[in-house]
Amino acid sequence: MKKVGVIGCGAMGRGMVKNLVQQGYEVHVYDVDKACVSAAAAFGATAAMTVAELGGAVQVVLTSLPTSAILMETLAGEEGVLSTLEPGSFILDMGTTDVDVTRKLYEKALAANVGFLDCPVSGGPQGADQGTLTIMAGGDEAAFAQVLPVLEAIGQEILYIGQSGSGQVVKLCNNMVVAGINVLLSEAFLTGVKAGVPVETIAEVMQKGSGQSKVLSVFGPNLLQGSYDRVIFMLNHMAKDVDLYMQLAKGGGVPSFMGSLVQQLFELAKQQGKGTMDTTAVGQMLEELAKQKIAAH
Ligand SMILES: NC(=O)c1ccc[n+]([C@@H]2O[C@H](COP(=O)([O-])OP(=O)(O)OC[C@H]3O[C@@H](n4cnc5c(N)ncnc54)[C@H](O)[C@@H]3O)[C@@H](O)[C@H]2O)c1
Repeated sequence: MKKVGVIGCGAMGRGMVKNLVQQGYEVHVYDVDKACVSAAAAFGATAAMTVAELGGAVQVVLTSLPTSAILMETLAGEEGVLSTLEPGSFILDMGTTDVDVTRKLYEKALAANVGFLDCPVSGGPQGADQGTLTIMAGGDEAAFAQVLPVLEAIGQEILYIGQSGSGQVVKLCNNMVVAGINVLLSEAFLTGVKAGVPVETIAEVMQKGSGQSKVLSVFGPNLLQGSYDRVIFMLNHMAKDVDLYMQLAKGGGVPSFMGSLVQQLFELAKQQGKGTMDTTAVGQMLEELAKQKIAAH
């Protein structure tokens, strides 16, 4: 399976294209944004005019798209990928997608004799660029075994989780926790700073105590320096993932007291125009409410 298509060549998809080309795959790409297509073509990929054309040219399709609705239309729409993809091919959804939509797409693909795996990732644009993504796969294990070389071309830690949708379940639970810790870190830093202790001291000691977290290692520098424009993970994406988590929890009848608060805070931050800033800009909103900065300057 050396002919691969990538639909959605944005922050994440672009790096996947680069690594697939470097690993010797014949890569076909499609994106509504011509600049993204040009960037992918510069790595050596071939541009397709439509997703149907792309589907007819490859054996494996990777998607890295912004919403579940766009993904559904792209794959299962009248002129979608499934209208041209040969039986025996595979679709790997690398985006973070609604679990119900994922399971519907799995069924639709199955009916066309196409394997569908949810393969959400973590590691951000840098991980995509370096081919070091962590990939959480859900779907049939036999299909997973067949596409593993493709996943290995773009990722480092590749985990088979279980049945269709389970990769997305793990990803959404992870991101809910990351979003929540960002809020709590912001609040605790504001409280500590207002009470007269420098934030660097609080963070340093926290990393030695039981409050230690990877979220603080990854997102902490932005909170400590007030560099909310330095995007590690865009707030819009995090708000989307929190919404998807809440839908999942509601569907399962699971109480989500903390989740609801986090969801509202991210929604508010979006409404205040912070959507294209980093996830930590939720802390900037809390700074504004507290009339206190976390960073000393
Ligand atoms: N950015 C991250 O750090 C990160 C990390 C993990 C997972 N993700 C997930 O990966 C997915 C993609 O994220 P991203 O950061 O690359 O987003 P992005 O907005 O940078 O890229 C998405 C690309 O899809 C294209 N697109 C939009 N509509 C399209 C359509 N109808 N047909 C074809 N292309 C279309 C856009 O032009 C864009 O180039 C999302 O589901 C996101 O949640 C992102």
